[in-house]
Amino acid sequence: MNKPMKLTILGATGSIGTSTIDVMLRHPQAFAAYALVGHRNAKLMAELAEKVRPELVVMTDESAYFELKGKLPAGVNLAYGMDEAIAAAEHADVDMVMAAMVGSAGLPATLAAVRAGKRVGLANKECLVTAGRVFMQAAKESGATVVPVDSEHAAVHQALIGHDRDSVTRIILTASGGPFRNRDPKTLINVTPAEAVAHPNWSMGAKISIDSATMMNKALELIEARWLFDAKAEQLSAIIHPQSIVHAMVEYRDGSVLAQMAMPDMRSPIIYAMQAEPRLESGIPWLELAQTHPLEFQAVDEERFPAMRLVKGVLAGEDSLAIALNAANEVANQAFQDGKVGFMGIVSTVEAVLNKTENKHIETLDDVWQHDAISRQLANEVIAK
Ligand SMILES: NC(=O)c1ccc[n+]([C@@H]2O[C@H](COP(=O)([O-])OP(=O)(O)OC[C@H]3O[C@@H](n4cnc5c(N)ncnc54)[C@H](OP(=O)(O)O)[C@@H]3O)[C@@H](O)[C@H]2O)c1
Repeated sequence: MNKPMKLTILGATGSIGTSTIDVMLRHPQAFAAYALVGHRNAKLMAELAEKVRPELVVMTDESAYFELKGKLPAGVNLAYGMDEAIAAAEHADVDMVMAAMVGSAGLPATLAAVRAGKRVGLANKECLVTAGRVFMQAAKESGATVVPVDSEHAAVHQALIGHDRDSVTRIILTASGGPFRNRDPKTLINVTPAEAVAHPNWSMGAKISIDSATMMNKALELIEARWLFDAKAEQLSAIIHPQSIVHAMVEYRDGSVLAQMAMPDMRSPIIYAMQAEPRLESGIPWLELAQTHPLEFQAVDEERFPAMRLVKGVLAGEDSLAIALNAANEVANQAFQDGKVGFMGIVSTVEAVLNKTENKHIETLDDVWQHDAISRQLANEVIAK
């Protein structure tokens, strides 16, 4: 019998992290944990360590590390800091890394896994948006397999298998439209963080839920798709599909369109990223098309969702624009959660930062971080005004 695949889960205490643990525990003969990596949530990490019994737990927040000391089961080691998270991602015993930290904080450890040639399940879209060129080049050099975990990209991945890439005319990502798809645009100014995180179809972390409400999430996903599938800007588009049953479509030159469907539950793309074939049971409900509401599709309204207008310019431009879009969005999203900027201020902050950003090709990680820092500073200045 084959040995179980050993995983390091970055962001183990988050929505994707806990769903990964759910599917992992359904298949103990196939998967085992080397390390669980969390940030602040010591209480949940203690529970997860009890269930999963990894060899190592890493907390990247110091006080959470001290909170956990003495609370882990026998045989589970505890470490602190991002350097330890990186070491857990590149460790020789690790076969696969689930990259599910939120934001560009996830980039160093995810990139370390890629450079070490691991199979990488990529939930953290921000690291590909920020450093796609460096990231994909590193995967090419090390032989790492990067498998998308985002449901839309997992769908594209499946619809591309066995087909000639040069015959692809369009990659179409679906978007639910979030909680404000039908809300009077004039009232969006009053949206609260609690309303913005209440996604109609998906249960997710706060940052991505707010990104879904502004549709900045779809903007990030289009940039992510550009790197994952080596696609040109004109091949990439999004369409509103309120039911979130069709996750993406690939159109071929002969007019044939391949769509992937599943109930909206991240455990399906997660297990696909862990082992594509033979397929394993994920625990998600079966899709009964006769019982789901009619499947609807609508064009994206760029007036309501200006993030989708901004991303067109970003996709047509150079890497510096994607770095600026991501960094400014991370700052503005957090500022919205902290009550420092209104809902409409998120995308207008990103637009203001993009307007001040030079369109530049970026080759190195140092340059990525430098542009990221400049964009964050600009975003903070815009918000302070
Ligand atoms: N949720 C989804 O359905 C979904 C779907 C597609 C893609 N994604 C992507 O997957 C990633 C994770 O999303 P999520 O919804 O799972 O987020 P989440 O529930 O907020 O979890 C985020 C994880 O990252 C950790 N974290 C937060 N700040 C950190 C920092 N500064 N340094 C290191 N770790 C940090 C958190 O640790 P603590 O909680 O311990 O502080 C937690 O484990 C995001 O990039 C998101 O875009 C998510």
